[in-house]
Amino acid sequence: MKNVSLVVNGRSVEKLVSERTHLADFLREQEGLTGTHLGCEHGVCGACTVLSDGQPIRSCITFAVACDGKSITTIEGYGDDPIMLHLRDAFSEFHALQCGYCTPGMLATARDIILRIPQADEQRVRIELAGNLCRCTGYVGIVAAILSVLKKLQDLPDTRVEALRQAVRAGHVFTPVIASDKFVNFDVESKDDVVEVARAHASAGPLSGSQTRHAKNLTHIEGSFDVPVDIKAVWQLMTDLPAVAGCLPGAVIESQDGNHVKGRVSIKFGPMSAAFIGSAFLEINEHAQTAILKGSGQDSLSQSRASGDVQYRLEFLEADLTRVFVDLDYSLQGPLAQFSRSGLVQEFVRRMITDFGKNVTARLKNPELTDNPAVSHINPVSILFGLIWSRLKRLFGAN
Ligand code: FES
Ligand code: FES
Repeated sequence: MKNVSLVVNGRSVEKLVSERTHLADFLREQEGLTGTHLGCEHGVCGACTVLSDGQPIRSCITFAVACDGKSITTIEGYGDDPIMLHLRDAFSEFHALQCGYCTPGMLATARDIILRIPQADEQRVRIELAGNLCRCTGYVGIVAAILSVLKKLQDLPDTRVEALRQAVRAGHVFTPVIASDKFVNFDVESKDDVVEVARAHASAGPLSGSQTRHAKNLTHIEGSFDVPVDIKAVWQLMTDLPAVAGCLPGAVIESQDGNHVKGRVSIKFGPMSAAFIGSAFLEINEHAQTAILKGSGQDSLSQSRASGDVQYRLEFLEADLTRVFVDLDYSLQGPLAQFSRSGLVQEFVRRMITDFGKNVTARLKNPELTDNPAVSHINPVSILFGLIWSRLKRLFGAN
């Protein structure tokens, strides 16, 4: 983790950020500026284009820590920028928006064209736009909108735009600044990847659970499920390592030595699948009726590594009803790491916890069950709709 100080849309921001967090994730997930879109995450499509000290950059291939001291402008931050005022009208007039996914990046690049190349013709505009892909293939409207602004400024020069062009020609950095009340960020639900730098925490001392997670770059997920079985029987199963591992969707135990097991866990997430081969160890606290399953493994195909702790504790609800609380801290490294940050994957893990609960109940109700549960194969689209539905419910205060 590194401390980073930057200005985002005219607002000073100081955060502790993981070195590998890219600027787009930082803006979207920590600052709630979801107008910065992610398409390819490889620097190809241009959807994530933002301004850094007035220059367009790909925020998906720029580390947030590399922006220390810089001034970043996202689509939410153009406010009354004189070029953007013209572009907004033109994009609307020439129907340059279809789904709008590419639009924040297109506008950043279009603004740059108008600023730097006042005489650009259609061919030049198309060349300059080549780094911004529109999946709706709506280039005709986009190009027409940019050409119309160029023409308008030639016919009727705008003094504010001219001042900007002169400043850029003279090598001055120009960053659009928005009045702070112009745009309201979305609420950020989780700030797990980034810790607010609070002076109160600056003094040395033992790390809290959450600070330890940040230091280890772990994602934290909590869940619980109810088992309609007596707490004693649930505890007995939850301290039986092969039984616990056997209830994890997609888990297969290959060998056991006391509280150590070796095996693999397979997952499927839409078209993506992985099989992590590794080992796990169960630590039991009989007195507190808590246990931690610590595991790590590697997927041979993608060479991604996963490690995590599943901590659980039981609560007596009724004679035949037990609640199991599950705390999961996990980290992914390697190519699959890019998925770990997303709300979709976190929802996927929550659903795995639910499946785990169902398997625990099934085993307790049918002790003769020994088959390993099926791999969790969850359709990301259904998760996406689940997420949207839960957000709508929150928004409108429904139960
Ligand atoms: S998401 Fe950054 S270039 Fe495609
Ligand atoms: S308007 Fe849909 S991707 Fe460009």
